[in-house]
Amino acid sequence: MTEKDFILKNTETSNLKNGSFSWQSPSNIALVKYWGKSEPQIPKNTSISFTLNNCHTTTTLKFSKKNKPSKEFSIEVIFEGEKKEGFKPKIVKFFERIEKYVPFITEYDFIIKTKNSFPHSSGIASSASGMSALALCLMNIQKELNPEISDGYFRQKASFLARLGSGSAARSIEGGLVVWGEHKEITESSDLYGVTFPYNVHDNFNNYQDTILLVDKGEKQVSSTIGHNLMHEHPFAKQRFAQANENITQLSKILQNGNLTAFINLVESEALTLHAMMMTSNPYFILMKPNTLKIIEKIWEYRQNNNSNICFTLDAGANVHVLFPEREKEKVNTFIINELIAFCQNNQYICDSVGNGAKQL
Ligand code: DP6
Repeated sequence: MTEKDFILKNTETSNLKNGSFSWQSPSNIALVKYWGKSEPQIPKNTSISFTLNNCHTTTTLKFSKKNKPSKEFSIEVIFEGEKKEGFKPKIVKFFERIEKYVPFITEYDFIIKTKNSFPHSSGIASSASGMSALALCLMNIQKELNPEISDGYFRQKASFLARLGSGSAARSIEGGLVVWGEHKEITESSDLYGVTFPYNVHDNFNNYQDTILLVDKGEKQVSSTIGHNLMHEHPFAKQRFAQANENITQLSKILQNGNLTAFINLVESEALTLHAMMMTSNPYFILMKPNTLKIIEKIWEYRQNNNSNICFTLDAGANVHVLFPEREKEKVNTFIINELIAFCQNNQYICDSVGNGAKQL
């Protein structure tokens, strides 16, 4: 599929006056990280993530034909029951980027009602799940205008649109393991949208667990977009992008052969490399907190002493994602409650696991 395949053919909207669609879209956690992009939201390297089950955004998109035609977007955002002017600029920017592919968006007044399953400002990024849910609602409108589109095209274009809102959102449509970014060893992979990891995954990774430790719930010091931009002048950028692509090759093998020791090594190295990129950019920044490091040390100690397959990953913040196979669930949860929760803000954590992807409500 190329960019042109996503341009809407039938733009006639006279038969569609109003309506409403709702989707629940998951968050995702990257194993090989996306950090660095070029216009328009093209990743500098391939990334792969687990889709989550319990962390998700629910969005209802209400639309009605404008009284007076205009080229301006008409958008109202209601987040967790309250009108949010602050969310609008990001959505207007998103609409500007996708207008070419869904030109009907200038013809309607929109009310976007959205809420997250995870606590407000928990440091868990809601842009992936949020942009995914909104893109899927917009695809419902396209389907009304072009009823012949297949389910496959519907979801692929939703991922394509979501990517233009937030890169990682491209990976928040499908369930399981999702790859975004063209890679010679991943069939059908694309820079334009996410695809389900196309090979058989070893049973070791069935229902993999992710307990998210909320170390610091404060507002992010540095937005992802600024962080991505800092990769343009970054002294280690070229090496990093090559390394990530090599890690995709390695992880693809690991996911198929079930080698958990190799999985742990690669995933933790990716997390620390992401933060190393932030520490070695200019301006430089540190998003980990002292408690992030204390948790990492505890995880290493527990793994060593208990012959466990527990490991961690990080996103662009201080929170720690604790990853482990389902069969270790009981023991690891006891360890987390007894030894790690103390390092979380207000003892807060979220038990999650790999999920099935977005669903229409
Ligand atoms: C560290 O998708 O939030 O979570 O495309 O600018 O919206 P934008 O960035 P975003 O970046 C996510 C970065 C990351 C790694 C990852 O999810 O792959």
